[in-house]
Amino acid sequence: MSAKERGMAKLLARADREERFSAVMAYVNPDVSAMLDLGCGIGALTTRLAERFPLALIVGVDRSRYLLSKLQRKRNVLTVLGDIPDLPLKKSFFDLVVAVQVLHEIFHFKGAHALARTFQNVFCLLKKGGEFLIFDHVNPGDTSICLKLSEELLEKLREFQSKFKPRRITYYDLGRGRIETSVRDFYDFVTKIWALNSELEEEEMSETHTPFTRQELVNLSQEAGFKVVHTTSLTPIDSHLEYYGITVESVVKLPNRHIILHAKKI
Ligand SMILES: C[S@@+](CC[C@H](N)C(=O)[O-])C[C@H]1O[C@@H](n2cnc3c(N)ncnc32)[C@H](O)[C@@H]1O
Repeated sequence: MSAKERGMAKLLARADREERFSAVMAYVNPDVSAMLDLGCGIGALTTRLAERFPLALIVGVDRSRYLLSKLQRKRNVLTVLGDIPDLPLKKSFFDLVVAVQVLHEIFHFKGAHALARTFQNVFCLLKKGGEFLIFDHVNPGDTSICLKLSEELLEKLREFQSKFKPRRITYYDLGRGRIETSVRDFYDFVTKIWALNSELEEEEMSETHTPFTRQELVNLSQEAGFKVVHTTSLTPIDSHLEYYGITVESVVKLPNRHIILHAKKI
């Protein structure tokens, strides 16, 4: 087990993730009999699903043997060690497939083709009428914003700019702690400050928290054959602003940073 996996296990066990699981579980049809939890990690959602739906079978898949070993054993849970884009599971078997904060990892570590293949694979694994629920980070767009940061945070921004690999982070120093940047660059920065110099730094600096737009996720779903029933955005950025004492000087409504997409195989 690597330090990265240990760090990930701690991160996935954080209590502040409860809200996103409740949001996802609100979509689950109570008649569901077989569910697949893609990239289940330590099984934070898997366990909740198993407890809420004791008559259903829940299959949790992850590529990390260590994270799977942390999953609480339940009578109605099976785990599979595997790679999501190419899962050799039974076709037309599941009523529901959930993917919580995993598609952005597939996109970054395996590429756009692997992500498209994941949607196609999920479509095949679902029964007719089956549902695909995605919870993930979303690209908030490139609107320009002005912010006021403390000197310490400005230093962190410089460090982040030098370490973040997915794209060049751009900001203009307007003096006296004021900067102009894009909402997208700001969201990647503010949601990853914690990872600087941590055991997850390498992983977090290699992937973005703004991977795809809502429309790109809708397109991927439709291209795989799904009907998109609903999308909603959630998780305001405000708590990060408060925590780090950041003032937004622009008159813009900052978008939420997560999306839930609910698609159906009709
Ligand atoms: C951010 S974690 C989310 C875990 C879990 N869904 C949750 O919300 O608690 C992403 C998980 O996806 C897994 N993962 C990423 N890419 C994968 C792949 N290609 N195949 C299987 N698992 C993958 C990682 O090992 C990790 O456990």
